[in-house]
Amino acid sequence: MTALLDCEHLEVRFRTEDGEVCAVNDLNLEVQPGECLGIVGESGSGKSQSVLAMLGLLAGNGTATGSVRYRGRDILNLPRKELDQLRGDRLAMVFQDALSGLTPTMRIGEQLTESLARHRGLSRAAAKAKVLEILEIVKIPAPATRYNAYPFELSGGMRQRVMIAMAMLCQPELLICDEPTTALDVTVQAQILRLLDGLKRHTGTAIILITHDLGVVAGLCDKVLIMYAGRAVETGTAHDIFNNPRHPYTVGLLRSVPSLRGDTTADLPTIPGQPPNLEVLPPGCAFAPRCGQAIAACQASAPAMLSMGSGHAAACHRIDAA
Ligand SMILES: Nc1ncnc2c1ncn2[C@@H]1O[C@H](COP(=O)(O)OP(=O)(O)O)[C@@H](O)[C@H]1O
Ligand code: SF4
Ligand SMILES: [Mg+2]
Repeated sequence: MTALLDCEHLEVRFRTEDGEVCAVNDLNLEVQPGECLGIVGESGSGKSQSVLAMLGLLAGNGTATGSVRYRGRDILNLPRKELDQLRGDRLAMVFQDALSGLTPTMRIGEQLTESLARHRGLSRAAAKAKVLEILEIVKIPAPATRYNAYPFELSGGMRQRVMIAMAMLCQPELLICDEPTTALDVTVQAQILRLLDGLKRHTGTAIILITHDLGVVAGLCDKVLIMYAGRAVETGTAHDIFNNPRHPYTVGLLRSVPSLRGDTTADLPTIPGQPPNLEVLPPGCAFAPRCGQAIAACQASAPAMLSMGSGHAAACHRIDAA
């Protein structure tokens, strides 16, 4: 089966005043139709830049190399116009800050109707009917009233539902959600994740869910990719990652998820130290300064991804000891 999205050896570099920064290094991933992939890592690990590079949305000082194919077609070198069309038709993105994606002076309903009329060429009346239907699907209460509301009149959770509605209007094959629940409280976060799960089941849309919180991907994602300092350090099915984590960083992330420990009152262990500055990466394994398992070899050379079969792989010199 041809993958929906297939990315090989993706590298993202930024030119800065202090030289070049490599934000994403040799990233490989695949998303099949209808599948949900979670990309997890601390802030600055290269999650957002990876997907922005795939969609041709890097900042002006950034360049991407490698191969990114959508349904087998190279999209990394696609002309701007064709890429815009692909993004409007087949791919959609939802960001953390829903307010920045909405026009503050325009009523919610008008924004959604305009987007639909533009991409699908529907009449205004047909577009409005479709928008009301979608607002219902994303569980916005009293959609006919909310249709006339301005973004500032809605709560953060409602705004995020509107953004998801906007993304789903064109029935995308792939929905990319970048920290969609990070700004929301725990209860609203759970509601949005349930909504995404429902959309995945009912529409068959594939999802890439980016988050710094491993707990968020449990239950929704089929596969998980863990990133550290611009590299994938472990990939596998959600079952592999939650039940048989092999990289010390994945183990550390798992220990710091409250819901997975079933123990929300105790102090959670956090991974000591900070992620490295990408401009001055340590030699060898980038996680070594924070790793309780580190041995001399870890400072000497960077570990390669080692496959354990069935798509489960990790980059660690102590894979057998983990
Ligand atoms: N426009 C830019 N210029 C220089 N460096 C950048 C730029 N955008 C991102 N970076 C670098 O890329 C790193 C990864 O960023 P990002 O993918 O946004 O991280 P996150 O995992 O939090 O989404 C940042 O820590 C920063 O070093
Ligand atoms: S390679 Fe070494 S430092 Fe890196 S995660 Fe494995 S044990 Fe830790
Ligand atoms: Mg990000």
